[in-house]
Amino acid sequence: MISKKLQEARDYENNYLAKDKKDIRPLFHLTGTVGWINDPNGFSRFGDKYHLFYQYHPYNNHWGPMHWGHSTSEDLIKWEYLPCALAPDEEYDKDGCFSGSAIELDDGKLLLMYTSVLRREDSDGEIRDYQQQSVAIGDGVNFEKVSSNPVISTDMIPAGGDRHDFRDPKIIKYDGKYYCFAINRHPDGSGQILVYESDDAITWSFNKVLDRSDNQVGRIWECPDYFALDDKKVLIVSPQETEGKGDNIFPGFNNFFLIGEGEGFLDFDRQTVLPIDFGPDFYAAQTIETVDGRRVMIAWMQNWETVNCGNDLHDYYSTMTLPRKLEIKDGHVYQQPIKELDNYRINEVTYNCIHVQEEQSLDEISGRIIDISLSLKKLESDYCFTMKLAKDDVHETLIKVDSKRGTIKLDRTNSGVRNSSLSEREFSVDFMDGTIELRIIIDRFTLEVFVNEGKQAASMKIDTDIAADKITFMSDETVVMDITKYDFEEGLF
Ligand code: FRU
Repeated sequence: MISKKLQEARDYENNYLAKDKKDIRPLFHLTGTVGWINDPNGFSRFGDKYHLFYQYHPYNNHWGPMHWGHSTSEDLIKWEYLPCALAPDEEYDKDGCFSGSAIELDDGKLLLMYTSVLRREDSDGEIRDYQQQSVAIGDGVNFEKVSSNPVISTDMIPAGGDRHDFRDPKIIKYDGKYYCFAINRHPDGSGQILVYESDDAITWSFNKVLDRSDNQVGRIWECPDYFALDDKKVLIVSPQETEGKGDNIFPGFNNFFLIGEGEGFLDFDRQTVLPIDFGPDFYAAQTIETVDGRRVMIAWMQNWETVNCGNDLHDYYSTMTLPRKLEIKDGHVYQQPIKELDNYRINEVTYNCIHVQEEQSLDEISGRIIDISLSLKKLESDYCFTMKLAKDDVHETLIKVDSKRGTIKLDRTNSGVRNSSLSEREFSVDFMDGTIELRIIIDRFTLEVFVNEGKQAASMKIDTDIAADKITFMSDETVVMDITKYDFEEGLF
């Protein structure tokens, strides 16, 4: 049975899709059918497709009562829109279907597990949100919320845990049992990950606290994920209110890989905390294991600190990042765009051994839907190299590579963005005797930089009009550059 609220959302989508005017969108970065999106949800494989749901408010480009939007893809690059999957249409989720995950059940159905939000007045007269975990089961298009929802209620939070910050269930099946990892606020005010277990994904019991911030790794954590990678275990968390530390941990909203080890599935002895992405726009990352065994991650290409700016430039607001393959080498998580992206590249152009100093362009290097690989070597002295992208007479987006300081800086001060927060991001990177490699992918309004074969990555959204497509290079000291550029096939979306 499709509720009135869900039908309304689907009708709204269909009316939008039937309109003649189509918006200019990124080509291979997923956006919502129409309106606002945030976190990736329910990243799963079901039938012969990958499914990606997302936090969704179709009716305008601002966060609102949360629905789940839905898309599918065969290769994680070319996406198709499916009808809105969940609407806040039950008493227990009337204030939102917040983030969660999905898993295929043994009977061939797809189960969505999400946070149902209920706002109600407490006996002290205060109005508060209660967050509990619920499930909906379906055929991959239509989902029925089960009658025993919420299946993990606030009563099942261990003593002292906050009853209002309890959300973002990640469901995983291991050794015949279902496990749910949800975030909660510990009495010390910071995040903890609660683990629940179940034989049927409907009846749950509390198992343990997997890990907690102890006010060291930001305050409240959001959107957990948990998986084995090579010989390590990785817990992903998105902390709010992180305290800045050194060159590479920025204050505010963050996304971290917590890397650890442990014997059993739920033994997690944390050893390292690594930022996932150094750009200003990356949050709420989620992963999947692909059919051929790769661990692939996708995230919301946005940050809560920058969300209310430029919302009405398009018919949609926000995109997902590129799907990235994860690998551990020397204790570090490397991330690279998945290889499926290469299938859509065309028009390869290469220039080798270009000596860059005065600002210059290269005849065939320009564009706003491009994949560029670049290697820089010093000629004699260390250098500060600047690449200007998405450029016209007044706009430019800068990537500064400084081998003297050992840093890369992204700068969108002149990229059409109308607020000042997070215009620049600078982070430390490795140079091997003045040599560095970058891969830069621009998809109209998105910029992703992968440094030294994916040892570090940085994501940034820009708002520059797509007519601004020039690219130039300059450097204070001569730098020797090899560069390869591809365009992409049109019509991916
Ligand atoms: C993270 C988050 C989640 C929540 C959702 C609400 O970006 O705050 O914790 O479930 O967004 O849209």
